[in-house]
Amino acid sequence: MSIIFNKKTNSFLLNTPSSSYIIRIYDKKYVLHGGWVSRIDDWDDDVCSMPLIDRAFAPVPAELHGKVDFSLNALQQEFPTSGRSDFRTGAFEALCADGTIAADLFYDSHKIIKGKPGIKGLPATYVTSDSETDTLEINLKDPVTGVLVTLVYTVWNNRDVICRHTIVKNNSGSAEGIYKNQSVKLRRVMSASVDFMTSRYKMLQLSGAHARERHGIWQKLVPGTQSVESRRGTSSHQHNPFIALADYEATETTGQVFGFNLVYSGNFVAGAEVDQFNMSRVQIGINPYNFEWELATGETFETPEVVMVFSNNGLGELSRTYHDLYRDNMCRGPWQKKERPIVINNWEATYFNFNAEKLFKLADRAAEEGIELFVLDDGWFGKRDDDRSSLGDWFVNTKKLTGGLEEIAEGIHKRGLKFGLWFEPEMISPDSDLYRAHPDWCLHIEGRDRSLGRHQLVLDLSRDDVVDYLTETLSKILSTVAIDYVKWDFNRSQTEVASALASPANQLKTAHKYYLGLYRLLESVTQKFPNVLFESCSGGGGRFDPAFLYYMPQCWTSDNTAGLSRLAIQNGTSIAYPASAMSCHVSAVPNHQTGRVTNISERGHTAMAGTFGYELDLNKLSKPELDEIKEQVALYKKIRSTVQFGDLYRLRSSWDAAAPAESSAYTAWNIVSKDKKQAVLTVSWQFAEGNPEVVLLKLKGLDPKAKYKLTCSTSATIRALLADFPFPLPESTFAPLPAGLATSGDKLMNVGLYLPYMPQYGGSVQIVLEKC
Ligand code: DGJ
Repeated sequence: MSIIFNKKTNSFLLNTPSSSYIIRIYDKKYVLHGGWVSRIDDWDDDVCSMPLIDRAFAPVPAELHGKVDFSLNALQQEFPTSGRSDFRTGAFEALCADGTIAADLFYDSHKIIKGKPGIKGLPATYVTSDSETDTLEINLKDPVTGVLVTLVYTVWNNRDVICRHTIVKNNSGSAEGIYKNQSVKLRRVMSASVDFMTSRYKMLQLSGAHARERHGIWQKLVPGTQSVESRRGTSSHQHNPFIALADYEATETTGQVFGFNLVYSGNFVAGAEVDQFNMSRVQIGINPYNFEWELATGETFETPEVVMVFSNNGLGELSRTYHDLYRDNMCRGPWQKKERPIVINNWEATYFNFNAEKLFKLADRAAEEGIELFVLDDGWFGKRDDDRSSLGDWFVNTKKLTGGLEEIAEGIHKRGLKFGLWFEPEMISPDSDLYRAHPDWCLHIEGRDRSLGRHQLVLDLSRDDVVDYLTETLSKILSTVAIDYVKWDFNRSQTEVASALASPANQLKTAHKYYLGLYRLLESVTQKFPNVLFESCSGGGGRFDPAFLYYMPQCWTSDNTAGLSRLAIQNGTSIAYPASAMSCHVSAVPNHQTGRVTNISERGHTAMAGTFGYELDLNKLSKPELDEIKEQVALYKKIRSTVQFGDLYRLRSSWDAAAPAESSAYTAWNIVSKDKKQAVLTVSWQFAEGNPEVVLLKLKGLDPKAKYKLTCSTSATIRALLADFPFPLPESTFAPLPAGLATSGDKLMNVGLYLPYMPQYGGSVQIVLEKC
């Protein structure tokens, strides 16, 4: 049992393999936090938790005033409220029947159960056996309004993970006076609030923009609030619903790190508040912006889940814990653990300008290269020849595809490839039959104009009729055409978030109801077609969050496929998300987003760090490039199980702001299969330097006793490119390792591997290690 209740100290000890999370009940009422620390095995005294007192201007609860040294404002709390004597940000705020926001959430009861309950209408991690987890539910009660709040903690027995969420029930039937049977309006209900005794932490956030998603950014905590959020109606390109706190000294491999990742795709807030005593309070949950949830008497509200991960060994271990959890206990269905096919996507090859002949020509070449899945992207439906029309008209554009989708699916299958199709189901173009029939089906505010993004509006998924319509429409296509894969796109942020069906009092529910509707839609479509491989996308990685992984095991990482940009994007993404979820393609040069030119080898090596594919016109490539692609495809088939489902060790990176002294001119990733029989080492140089530093890589995660055979593929293209170099290069540049080299795991990890420098911006080396 990983949850212990100690009656003597009135405290709970929540133990994962390496961490302990302590909750204390003071005076049978106040639920206080006791620390989230390296594992301890008992908690039978209170010596480590002397009460802190705030003597400066801090009122205390009247019943304790002058009797004991106790200040809510100076204590670590488990779920702080607003309007009483804690002046830091509350985790709970609701407008009561008397027009005030004050609340007291006092301990009422608790329950410890085996396993993990689900969350109504929301995606969450799940268990396959109750023995994987124990769950603690602590019920808190506001004595005045009767509001009940349940704090739910699921503790994983074999992972350093605690999942939390919050349930609010309006139990005003039990209240008295003006509160009796009245509704309350929820304004802020966090999924978790965790108070730390110190602020000697640096905070990591994953931030950026479209085509520059999830760059890892570290900053030391300072007094006041530092937070990231989204108000765009999506988890967003700009910020990810993830933050971590780490010791100042923490690195990839050392120090304590605490991760927080919200399982939600809509507006969120996540941050840390440092108070006058240099204590820090982390909170994460639905963004209170544009949110108010009226809860009638008897009704309940459940927040999304937050996945909290602890690491005693730096950021790398934190990432591997997230990866394993999401692969094993978030993703579902037949594709969860299945090797993912290699893709050719026609988007950057043709954009909207295609017909069956062009598509088949691309498919023919793809088949010759050994590629396995052909994806027909945007432009196959309605009368869509550019991005100005037809979203919502999910019937084939017969002007472009005269033989219909069936002909395309059949033609692709005949060539030995699987067939995939692009949709953007949540959108509607004003120029569409659907909009002409249902102008009120989009999010809008009556009397205001409707902001357009990429010439389109967002359907109102808070409405059941819209969700039902989409379920039916998509199901019809997926059951009539032989489709093996779906790319589910979303290409604008939400504005005028209001519904024609909502009353003024309920209008601020729309943003969250949208996601309840979307999750219902995703659940029914993905469950009806379990064999289809679904990939989510939002103009690249604008909705790369754990909630989507519950429905779709992979996500288009970014529209920026320039190899060198991708290294930073993939590095940041890999902090929380596994390689099996990270869809990565090789595209043309000059790159369509950055204009950068790098060789096909580097682009291939970089894209091979996730689920792999190509997105360019193969028919425009040279013979050496096509030869190289054939080699890449064949190699990826041999290593994909390791890459997608193995353990990732980030050895070096050029963006390592966590430990700037460790930043380097190159990125080096080492991925090891779970059985340690195979490993893949990829090194990519972002900068060309004269007289560069020596590249010594100490590998990680290998079997120290085993011998590994090392194979390094130097591509024909690299040879051709370097042959033009203005001075002669040593043969070791082309073949960095002697053929047939084999050495032991302990030497590779402790002595390390020296690599010759690639005297070229954008150079890369990939070495496959096989146990012999
Ligand atoms: C944005 C996606 O990220 C691209 O890959 C492509 O599918 C376009 N949308 C199509 O409109």
